Amino acid sequence: MDAYDCIVTKLEIREFDANIPVSSETRLKILESARLTGSSLNTQPWRFIVVENQNNLKKLSDDSTSGKWVSGANFAIIIITNPYFRFHLIDAGKVAQNMQLAAWNFGVGSALFTGMYEDKIREDFAIPLDYKPVIVVGFGYPRKKITGKTKKKNRLPMNELVSFEEYGSFTNKNRP
Ligand SMILES: Cc1cc2nc3c(=O)[nH]c(=O)nc-3n(C[C@H](O)[C@H](O)[C@H](O)COP(=O)(O)O)c2cc1C
Repeated sequence: MDAYDCIVTKLEIREFDANIPVSSETRLKILESARLTGSSLNTQPWRFIVVENQNNLKKLSDDSTSGKWVSGANFAIIIITNPYFRFHLIDAGKVAQNMQLAAWNFGVGSALFTGMYEDKIREDFAIPLDYKPVIVVGFGYPRKKITGKTKKKNRLPMNELVSFEEYGSFTNKNRP
């Protein structure tokens, strides 16, 4: 799959096939895509906690407000970033997207959540005070075969998104 196909077909996957584990080689490649992600001023303000133990995945699910589905993932990665660095939230978003795209390239589905009980997740996963849990990504092989090609993505049309030279200007009919 080339990079463009990977981006345009990727969907959030929240239902995973419990019978097919993700190999440690594939998981390592997903982590390598995180490690090699660019960050603001190359500060690399992130650390990653891999959660694969079933009891801990259940805890992660209990600690979430918008990611209960993570209990069914094969493994999850908690992305923690240091808020001392001004762009840490942008960096967290970039690293999550790279991991999700790397996974999709290998046929592994994923979804992320951001809603969590911060105190609980800190306590359960020993997250130090100088890091903030920002995003959790759950990974696993999709239960149903589905891609952005078979399920049309629910997105705004180009002509509501893009203008040229100044906001709201769609002067050239040949443009999107
Ligand atoms: C910043 C951000 C926060 C999100 N938070 C959650 C979340 O808390 N729980 C969840 O299940 N999905 C979450 N998502 C995933 C979105 O629901 C998903 O990207 C969107 O619905 C498009 O999904 P699709 O690509 O499958 O069409 C989040 C996505 C982003 C970019």
